[in-house]
Amino acid sequence: MKTYYITTPIYYVNDKPHIGHAYTTTACDVMSRYKRMKGYDVFFLTGTDEHGQKIQSAAEAKGETPQQLVDRVHQTFRDLCTALNVGNNDFIRTTEPRHIRTVQAIFSRLMEQGDIYKGTYTGYYCVPDETYVPENAMGPNKTCPDCGRPLTIMEEESYFFRAAKYVPQLIEYYEAHMKAVMPRQRYNEIMSFLKSGVRDQSVSRTSLKWGIPVPGDEKHVIYVWFDALVNYLTAAGYLDDPEKFAHWWPSVRHMVGKDIIRFHCVTWPLVLLALGISLPVEVFAHGWWTVDGEKMSKTRGNVVDPFKIVKEYGRDAFRYFMMREVPFGNDGDFSELALVGRINSDLANDLGNLLNRTHRMIVSYRGGVVPASDETCELAEMSARVLETVDAAMNEYAFDEALKAVWEFIGRANKFIDETMPWKLAKDEAQSTRLDFVLLNLYEALRLSAMMIAPVMPETAARIWGQLGVDGEPVRSEYSSFVWGQGAGNKLGASEVLFPRIDINEWKKHKEEQKLQESAKKAEAQSQQEASAGAETPSPSQQAQSETQAPSTDHEAEISIDDFRTVEMRVARITKCEEIPKSKKLYKLTVDLGYETRTVCSGIKAFFTPSELEGRRIILVTNLKPVKLCGVESSGMILCASVKKDGVSEQLTLIKPEDDNIPLGSRVS
Ligand code: MSP
Repeated sequence: MKTYYITTPIYYVNDKPHIGHAYTTTACDVMSRYKRMKGYDVFFLTGTDEHGQKIQSAAEAKGETPQQLVDRVHQTFRDLCTALNVGNNDFIRTTEPRHIRTVQAIFSRLMEQGDIYKGTYTGYYCVPDETYVPENAMGPNKTCPDCGRPLTIMEEESYFFRAAKYVPQLIEYYEAHMKAVMPRQRYNEIMSFLKSGVRDQSVSRTSLKWGIPVPGDEKHVIYVWFDALVNYLTAAGYLDDPEKFAHWWPSVRHMVGKDIIRFHCVTWPLVLLALGISLPVEVFAHGWWTVDGEKMSKTRGNVVDPFKIVKEYGRDAFRYFMMREVPFGNDGDFSELALVGRINSDLANDLGNLLNRTHRMIVSYRGGVVPASDETCELAEMSARVLETVDAAMNEYAFDEALKAVWEFIGRANKFIDETMPWKLAKDEAQSTRLDFVLLNLYEALRLSAMMIAPVMPETAARIWGQLGVDGEPVRSEYSSFVWGQGAGNKLGASEVLFPRIDINEWKKHKEEQKLQESAKKAEAQSQQEASAGAETPSPSQQAQSETQAPSTDHEAEISIDDFRTVEMRVARITKCEEIPKSKKLYKLTVDLGYETRTVCSGIKAFFTPSELEGRRIILVTNLKPVKLCGVESSGMILCASVKKDGVSEQLTLIKPEDDNIPLGSRVS
């Protein structure tokens, strides 16, 4: 039996899954279901990437240990597989012992053979995020792509992998295997990158603790990407199960997003060459989703939650949309309106109607039993061509093309009804054979369509077969077992609507309501924030927040240490204090944090003149969401102590660090 080993990237568990993750996982699931139906022995791997700086920082921000964080969040990626009906064969976590052993064994082997050596790593570092930023990922003017703050050059001792040594061999391999990197545009990019020269690569860090220790030198941990890529070997049994490894590895292919193609098509094959392991058959890089035309990001607040989409529209509709809407290598735009459009036109109208009409006619004219007929029909001929087109498209990962071909077939079948007019044939006894012929061919077109959509919409396919009275499940059958005409004699199951049409006006109204509710929630959160920044007219809740006159604790809500840790406070200095023309209470302050300067509005005008404030060292809350106050964007809040009477401050003092030598930017905890 031919084998097929397919992998998703392993996902970082610093945050919960979004549609980008859902996309790759679904695409791999579609591919693996398709190959199973083509008779392949398939191994489908997904999992989570649980080491490194991102995870360590996320854990610190949440007040958890990294282990607690990864144990908690990795589960949401498993849940995503369930929510999307993904049939992976293994789920690997990089914190598992099987993986740690494999990474360390490989690292040791490369050290022993001289392909890993000790040197010094120099790179751009983001001090507040405590992370190195590769040059190709830097923001404008050498800033951090995540937080936008300026980067500093850092040096540390590091182990290096002799990547450069294997580059000529890799170029030779790619010249002979043009499908090893797909689509072609990515192949060209990788080839020109390789030809422009590749440096040896740093594969260890001393700046963090959360990683796999370098064997024999435990002040280093193995760089997260080296650790992560090895997951593909671990799960295939590289260290523990040579037989399993020999079975799966020769057919391995990786599916990744375009942003991580260099790791997969340069670093990874160079490591494999050094280890003498055969290279992946294919790496396919898909494009990125934007949302309603914008880059998806937490700050924009437009991250699409796949769980929500599945809940609202159903997983098959979501899977269909992702695979159909955008050619797999291209970037695409996600919008719920487009999803609703696809549900109404492709699923409810084209597919749903063909099924309903055919089912109804077989019940009305033939008592629910599929008639036999010997005549061949153009639909049967077309089906053979469609199967070929689908196969060619799937081998190129062109899911959209494959689905388009299936929908052309469905469209042809719908047209066949209009042309043959079975309702007229039914009225004329002399046309009975012709009617049998029409009904059987429509039935067969549906029985086969269900198989063709099964990799993308397994549940819908099964529901279609259920209504057609076919035994088994499409996704567990093989295309080669389908013989046109063999459905004759089947007794139909009960009819049901596959995809109810969504009334677009009702839907728009519902979305408007949802939006209003969300913005009301946001406004509430913002007003609380403005209160703590000293806004002009505090609401009762804002007053309650800043009230400090009666230091009794009996009525105060308790927070946990974890809640407290989510507040980031740092030492800063006021460098400039300006009036805000529209405001009686606020000053606009320019504040220096050492690594950046910010603007902060503060309601302390009644207590200080600008010259009393300029040069003062203060404590700034730095991770408050920016807010506009009297037309000025304020990014933070300075800490003060005050005495209040009837809700009005009578006395106010700034909080400052005792030691004037503590560097700006130092964290307060
Ligand atoms: N942990 C690494 C991969 C290691 S593989 C040995 C990683 N993880 S990730 O969680 O940040 O990203 C995983 C995948 O999600 C990547 O393939 C990335 O391209 C994909 N996507 C992230 N955002 C995306 C979109 N907006 N759209 C489509 N895919 C996106 O990188």
